[in-house]
Amino acid sequence: MFHISEASVADTSTHTAIRFLPEHRAFTLTGQAFSYIFAVDLDDVVLRHLHWGARLGDDDVSLLIYDAPRRIGSNTWSRPRAHTEELVAHGGLRFDECALKVEFSDGVRGLELAYADHEISGNELAVRLCDRHYPLDVVLRYRVYPGALERWMEVVNTGDDAIVLDRSASASWAPPWLATPMATWLPGMYAAETQVTRAPLGVGRLVLESRRGVPGHAAHPWMAVDGGADEEHGEVWSVAVAWSGSWKIVAEHAFDGAVHLTAGRNDFDLRQPLRPGESVVLPATVGVYSDGGYGELTRRWHTHERQHVVPRPRHARPVLYNGWEASFFTVAHDQQTALAKRAADLGAEMFFIDDGWFLRRFDETAGLGDWTADPDKLPGGLAALADEVHARGMAFGVWVEPEAVNPDSDLFRAHPDWIYQWPTRARSLARNTHLLDLGRPAVRSWMFEALDALLRSADIDALKWDINRPMSESGTAGSEPAAIGHVRGLYEVIDRLRAAHPHVMIESCASGGGRADLGMLARTEWAWPSDNTDALERLAIQEGYGFVHSPHTMMCWVTDSPSYLGKRAAPLRFRFHVAMCGILGIGGDLTGWSDEEMAEAAGYVKRYKEIRETVQFGQLYRLASPRRGEFSSLSYVASDGSQVVLFAFAQTVRYCVQTRLVRLRGLQPDAVYENVDTGGRFSAAYLVGHGLRVSLVGDYASELVVLRTVSPT
Ligand code: GLA
Repeated sequence: MFHISEASVADTSTHTAIRFLPEHRAFTLTGQAFSYIFAVDLDDVVLRHLHWGARLGDDDVSLLIYDAPRRIGSNTWSRPRAHTEELVAHGGLRFDECALKVEFSDGVRGLELAYADHEISGNELAVRLCDRHYPLDVVLRYRVYPGALERWMEVVNTGDDAIVLDRSASASWAPPWLATPMATWLPGMYAAETQVTRAPLGVGRLVLESRRGVPGHAAHPWMAVDGGADEEHGEVWSVAVAWSGSWKIVAEHAFDGAVHLTAGRNDFDLRQPLRPGESVVLPATVGVYSDGGYGELTRRWHTHERQHVVPRPRHARPVLYNGWEASFFTVAHDQQTALAKRAADLGAEMFFIDDGWFLRRFDETAGLGDWTADPDKLPGGLAALADEVHARGMAFGVWVEPEAVNPDSDLFRAHPDWIYQWPTRARSLARNTHLLDLGRPAVRSWMFEALDALLRSADIDALKWDINRPMSESGTAGSEPAAIGHVRGLYEVIDRLRAAHPHVMIESCASGGGRADLGMLARTEWAWPSDNTDALERLAIQEGYGFVHSPHTMMCWVTDSPSYLGKRAAPLRFRFHVAMCGILGIGGDLTGWSDEEMAEAAGYVKRYKEIRETVQFGQLYRLASPRRGEFSSLSYVASDGSQVVLFAFAQTVRYCVQTRLVRLRGLQPDAVYENVDTGGRFSAAYLVGHGLRVSLVGDYASELVVLRTVSPT
């Protein structure tokens, strides 16, 4: 059986501080390499945002306090300007993008908030604001981590009348003044997720969002701004929304250079009633600042995710086999065990049966909702398959899509009212399914019980939790709007399931990478970044995914050549090397692989296990990006510095060039490194200053070099 091993991840949770400076009525929130500062009641601003970025000292706070912004342009802009306010709440002369807008029962839609009190508790700060006239509290919440700041708010109706939240983002974030603001974001589409994109942030608004009920493929819930940074230099400010539903980030850049970002749930089609006594806790947004360019930004995101977000942070992820592309819907016990035998021969540590295993599941048209194994396909059920997989030393995982239901299913026939719908409108089908109304307590209970029963029916070690349709006709019988109730229901079911089955690991999937946000990654061990397993396309997809997320959450399969979506052929070596950049998985039809291919593949799996801890938990350095040309390279430096893993790729090598020099980064300055295969030795100065020569010839060329630290010679 696969035993997950402990990786050494340094715990830096003590490098944070929250202070209130009474003489300035200022809050200073300090991480390892950033300061975040705001103050109470300055000028006509309730909470004035003063600084987010490089670390500042207490003396600097006095300067910030007296550095009052001039009011030029007040005929043009909001008063106060959005970038000077800690919370932009609609009301008065505010016309900039706001984070909060409410309607009171008498029709009044302006807020007038005043500071009430605050509480500091460990690494958390809560600042309570009260409306001057109406019974409404807004609590701004902060959690400081060494490399990240989490911000969200809570809105409380303390009165006897209903209030409607018209717009309720979680926070606005403002970097300091930037001479030429640039934005970086991760747009894409199905099978082409997370494509790193950087462009000038023009004057106006850049809106990134999903309206689909899942974070979606069109953009990842993340954005960064800089004033001229590159991979290795410069300051970058980035924000992510930790919410697994519709989200929105708006970057507003005014003509005078002011920039602020508003981030949180999407207000599209969402008006949330807040009944008397009710409160709503809005999802967290996470801000990460870097003063070492995009490379350092990525490393800070990875460290934060490993230490504070993802479950089982220190456990190496298994080498996985998944039979989807080998079987599609045509699964059968003997065919799966044949694949399992081959997967075990390669050294896989976890075997997944994907879609197609349950009743009436011959294609997309039926079966979703009925989580019982099809006895014709699996006469011994999942239990017999699990036993065979375990007997081969692998853990066993099962695909599910619990939120969707086919009309042709016993579940739907029994509960046709359990889906989102408008009584007078047609019900849209997407991938032949409806979406179950997770706002209903009965649906939440059913989902927990069905999955709990599934996990008890066989010795199952992991689930791949998929969702393949958006939310539409979002009428709900739940007490919250569908867009909110669904995500809360999802979290509730997963959390209950994890508590009931603590050994079970979960992979997050949504037609590929449609739901790999921080909310989901807080509840799942890894995500599936894309259905596109074409190794060349994967280089770009993985670069984007890995911009924010740690490689130990990035599942990557080696599949057959030509690839099934792109029909591109690539050598086994190239396909393995690309997949070894994250969690190595294999997804090809192994029964068709020759003995030579099996032997070659087993060699890559063996090598992966030697470098896995460095790849999954080390420091990532992008040495040459696939965005810039046919050649790309990246390296991983083990957290204790003892190993360096270098990958180099070339789609094609032109002009008779046969080698490339790759200059390494992140090495220990005095160390000597040895190539574990050739025994060649190099000083850090040589590898950083001159470079390591790698051989790349022909098409789909790739190289993997493993260096270990040896004592200085
Ligand atoms: C989605 C997933 C795939 C696979 C299929 C099964 O498309 O992204 O990996 O699981 O569903 O139907």
